[in-house]
Amino acid sequence: MGALRPDGFHDLTTVYQAVGLYDEVTIERADALTVTVEGPGADLVPLDATNLAARAVVLLAERSGNDPRVAVHLRKGIPVAGGCAGGSADAAAALVGCDALWGALQTRDQLARCAAELGSDVPFSLHGGTALGTGRGERLTPVLGQGSYSWVLALSDLGLSTPAVYDELDRQRETGPVGVVSDPSEVLAALRSGDAVALGHALGNDLQPAALALAPSLRPLLEAARSAGALGAIVSGSGPTVAVLARDDGHGKALAAALERSGTCDGVRQASGPAPGARVVHA
Ligand code: C5P
Repeated sequence: MGALRPDGFHDLTTVYQAVGLYDEVTIERADALTVTVEGPGADLVPLDATNLAARAVVLLAERSGNDPRVAVHLRKGIPVAGGCAGGSADAAAALVGCDALWGALQTRDQLARCAAELGSDVPFSLHGGTALGTGRGERLTPVLGQGSYSWVLALSDLGLSTPAVYDELDRQRETGPVGVVSDPSEVLAALRSGDAVALGHALGNDLQPAALALAPSLRPLLEAARSAGALGAIVSGSGPTVAVLARDDGHGKALAAALERSGTCDGVRQASGPAPGARVVHA
């Protein structure tokens, strides 16, 4: 993680992997731009113009000369407000969905540029798979990897705010050494050889100390994952979700059960990666 930039973002180097948790986004022509939501945590999703999917519709309409009046319906399968990039996934889906609905025929690069304007993680939600992110996370290079990885996502109802975690990192750096951009080579080597054990060892997150300072209850969760035999466990992004790597799906099931029993989290989801990015399912 690099230093705070004049534009308020941090330069970073990150390895993204998309996992198989999905939201279903339906887009239809309508008299006005509306957003409706169903599924767990739906009440926490904004329905106004601040919704990232609504912002994606407006931006693509502007860029491609189309009418933004559509009804967007989100069926949430990605945990809401958990630091799982669910809002970014919805924005990426809205971009590809509107492109198809309007026949806007935007190139992948044009959609990626819109995605980057919407949020640092939106380009990756469009891309999917496994990728190296640089800049503020919006510049992507596909990662050559093999194999599939079994993850357990341990959820917390803590409501950590991403800017607050980055602010805490800046505050910690005022009194300690300022971290340099991390070297992802160990993670990339593990992915290249498809070695889950090596990946588990290599996992790390420069934002984790800041997330733990704001949410100390994530510490016993990380410890519970390790003592239950996880190959690795880290705070995912700015948290509060903790990503736990298992040897395979059977091991993942056992880890998920152990974490639920431990009482250190508010829910678990099992998912494997890499999974594809946003795509049109029914035209
Ligand atoms: O891009 P996104 O809207 O997801 O970013 C939310 C906030 O997270 C930013 O306003 C900024 O405070 C912080 N952030 C950052 N550096 C990044 C990505 C996000 O400081 N690379």
